[in-house]
Amino acid sequence: MPTPSSLIATVTDTIAATSADTAVNNSMAFKALISQCKAQIESALDRWLPAEDAKPETLHRAMRYSALAGGKYVRPLLVYSTGQALGVTAEALDGPACAIELIHSYSLVHDDLPAMDDDDLRRGKPTCHRAFDEATAILTGDALQTLAFHILATDPAVCVPAGQRVRMIETLANASGSLGMAGGQAIDLEADGKGNSMTLEALEYMHAQKTGALIRASVRLGALSHAGVDEAMLAHLDRYAANIGLAFQIRDDILDIEASTDTLGKSQGADIARNKPTYPALLGLDGAKQKALQLHEAALENLATLGSEGDPLRWISEYIVQRPN
Ligand code: IPE
Ligand code: IPE
Ligand code: MG
Ligand code: MG
Ligand code: MG
Repeated sequence: MPTPSSLIATVTDTIAATSADTAVNNSMAFKALISQCKAQIESALDRWLPAEDAKPETLHRAMRYSALAGGKYVRPLLVYSTGQALGVTAEALDGPACAIELIHSYSLVHDDLPAMDDDDLRRGKPTCHRAFDEATAILTGDALQTLAFHILATDPAVCVPAGQRVRMIETLANASGSLGMAGGQAIDLEADGKGNSMTLEALEYMHAQKTGALIRASVRLGALSHAGVDEAMLAHLDRYAANIGLAFQIRDDILDIEASTDTLGKSQGADIARNKPTYPALLGLDGAKQKALQLHEAALENLATLGSEGDPLRWISEYIVQRPN
């Protein structure tokens, strides 16, 4: 388990120890960052999730099954990278990183339900309602969601004044609710079968809500974990996050067409099967890739005030538009 010391400091050591080739070094440093983040967040989630033998055992088994299933942990990576760019310790970021990942895992458990996308495979394993049953999957989502708010409200390692902690809770609530992820999911369900008949503007709104909102909240939670963060920095980071948030769902839509079920760990072709409106459906695959790259460039422009401490955020943006799964 990594110590709560700076993940970024460890990565900087990795860079210093390797050759002068920047691209190679960045790629090695990013890989190191991802694996350290994975160890850090899995250990933190393990501490916060109730034990499998705590009553009711089935619900707790399902919660751990879904939240510790080996996702990519992009949202925690954003929390850690944003917070550490501003000088916050990894230990103080564990709680916010867990909170956003738990909301995300809950959203996937519900997204896969028969009443929603009706998927059988998630993160390379049977979906929660397949491994357990539908009622347990509904309750698993409910309980993951409330645990997220419990953590933000109570984690003693979060080192900010009470008023700022309330802003963090408000951030997570807004991003998760009807004006954020849940609202985006509602629009997505209404749009089932609409294929390429949705306008680009409506598609962008849907994507920004259903996926962008939690990505934005990840960056904002990382920034708000710094007691002295200023509003101008928050605004820059928010514009960075809005761009990568939209790019993230565009890449998800592209991968649904181009990647294999094995690589994805979820069923390939799910969007076409339900005739979902997606960026490739509206713009074609090349148009969707172009759009994702434009968003990546726009994201980077908003990091101009950060020096090398912002590099992990730059690498994450690039990763989002190129990721294989
Ligand atoms: C999948 O999210 C659902 C979307 C919001 C597009 P991720 O691709 O982050 O899923 P995991 O957490 O890595 O499994
Ligand atoms: C899911 O979008 C977005 C949320 C869970 C909020 P998708 O339905 O495209 O995600 P996948 O492809 O099933 O992971
Ligand atoms: Mg869906
Ligand atoms: Mg889905
Ligand atoms: Mg998808």
